[in-house]
Amino acid sequence: MASWDPRRVGVSAELAGAPVGVAPGSHQNEGGRMASDRERTVVAGGPDQQGASAVEGGLGALVDPDGDRRAIEAEAFDSSRRVAGRAAAGSCSSDDHLAPRSYPVVGCLLDFYRNRRRLLAWYTGLLAASPSQTIVVDRLGARRTVVTANPANVEHILKANFGNYPKGKPFTDVLGDLLGGGIFNVDGERWYEQRKLVSHEFSARVMRETVGTALEREARARLVPALYAAADGGVVVDVQDLLRQFAFNVICRVALGGADDAGGGVEMALPLSRLAAAFDTAAAISARRGAAPVAAAWKMKRALGVGSERRLREEVKVIHDAIMEFIRGSSRRRKRPAAARRGRDDLLSRMAATGYPDEAICDMVVSFIMAGRDTTSSALTWFFWLMTRHRDVEQEVLDEIDACMGNGGDGILVGVELEGSRRARVLHAALCEAMRLYPPVAWDSKHAAEDDVLPDGTRVGRGDRVTYFPYGMGRMEAIWGADAGDFRPRRWLALPPDGVSPFKYPVFQGGPRTCLGKEMAFVQMKFVASAVLRRFELRPVAEGSPEFVPLLTAHMAGGLKVMVRKRQRRNGTCDR
Ligand code: HEM
Repeated sequence: MASWDPRRVGVSAELAGAPVGVAPGSHQNEGGRMASDRERTVVAGGPDQQGASAVEGGLGALVDPDGDRRAIEAEAFDSSRRVAGRAAAGSCSSDDHLAPRSYPVVGCLLDFYRNRRRLLAWYTGLLAASPSQTIVVDRLGARRTVVTANPANVEHILKANFGNYPKGKPFTDVLGDLLGGGIFNVDGERWYEQRKLVSHEFSARVMRETVGTALEREARARLVPALYAAADGGVVVDVQDLLRQFAFNVICRVALGGADDAGGGVEMALPLSRLAAAFDTAAAISARRGAAPVAAAWKMKRALGVGSERRLREEVKVIHDAIMEFIRGSSRRRKRPAAARRGRDDLLSRMAATGYPDEAICDMVVSFIMAGRDTTSSALTWFFWLMTRHRDVEQEVLDEIDACMGNGGDGILVGVELEGSRRARVLHAALCEAMRLYPPVAWDSKHAAEDDVLPDGTRVGRGDRVTYFPYGMGRMEAIWGADAGDFRPRRWLALPPDGVSPFKYPVFQGGPRTCLGKEMAFVQMKFVASAVLRRFELRPVAEGSPEFVPLLTAHMAGGLKVMVRKRQRRNGTCDR
């Protein structure tokens, strides 16, 4: 087995989202303990993006459409400190926070432009140097933006003064064509109603029956056979791509029903792969809207029905037509005798029973698919990559999986054992640690309804964008200590039973709008980690460092290309 030397990891600014990514470089720890490795950073324009700049919530980065793919490498913390040093030399606002270097009229436009392809690293450095881990980015032509990595501020925005921080019109405008009035894109009463309804989807029973069945079926049908085929054929496979397909099919089965179809999948005229491609394109174009220097540009293109806006309209139509057709089919099926519709307890059926019109159901399903599709695959991609860099951690995870998560023989999948999954503490810790360094949602923004003052004294004006920054928070020494840049899952095992505050680790957001799918995500990620790791050893083919690309959902630029080897089965012990 190849051992890996410490290497730089990539980060790249991207369309939606805002800041730019970072990644941990790491090496195998010879002591057999959990590895601890100083992260390195590469900031680059991603391949399918065009440079970046930006700030925006889960989809908000600004994009420089002419940006070339210029990588800027720097050891993460050295980089942070250098940037911090410069920031300290820059202008300091009257509040207790740093601001990028600013000038009359243009504000911090120049610094912003200079750093537009490395926003994640730039913001992280500025935030680390700020006494209160908050910065204000105020530049000509853009909304005043407060970016914070301060847990008290994050709690204030997401919980204490939740009502003052809706997603807001700038956000909902950008995603409106794709998401319509679905839960992801609405505030106030409309959000609350849907939240209540959809919460049912995450009950223990649904998790066991629908999610468990969907996971097993998809793993048996595609994921595991594809990896066996790659191992047998000695061919390179893109694990990120496989995981994305897997997550998409699973969430479609859960949202639309189909987990109960004997051996089959979702009954849909359109192949799921075409639907997935439509989602990809529509999400990317919507993200680019959020990144446009002036909103009027995409609005004009939309009005004229040209360019990317025309493509967006076409892809959204593919999505809506396919889901609407499915909804109508589902409503016909509901009229069949009870025996024929046994097991149909999906989101769609429940919304129909509650009296929602078909269009509203369609919007809800689109939001649900968007929420559940790329997040888990993103987290798992980085997790698997980290396992290849920290073989000692992988060994501990494997021992625990063998002991806790059932006894799957060769070629036989281990069922989704919720109890065993909950007991897998080392695996849980490794996943949390992977997401601390590579959060699937790198940044997320709200828009202030009224003037406010954050707990650290930062003034917020009505209409300002307020961005909390999971990516930067995962790297703050003020939060995680001097080893904040190291991949060290053991830090999670030392935490008190109630874990870490969601406002220090807002990877799943926090407060009333916290991610509804968190438990489902862990069940899914543990299932996949177990199904893959116990059968296969993955070995990346590229020596180069992956880039973290924070689109609407973050991903690894270029995918995770690996060679696959079948693993010998072993036994382990479980920390019960
Ligand atoms: C590692 C996996 C996941 C991560 C890191 C994650 C993270 C997040 C974050 C940060 C938000 C807030 C986004 C915003 O308000 O702009 C969110 C919301 C949401 N997530 Fe997840 N998510 C994950 C998996 C899932 C899955 C598998 C589902 C299942 C469908 C899901 C369903 C939702 C829903 C429905 C919301 C909207 C909640 C609301 O607005 O009230 N998530 N998630």
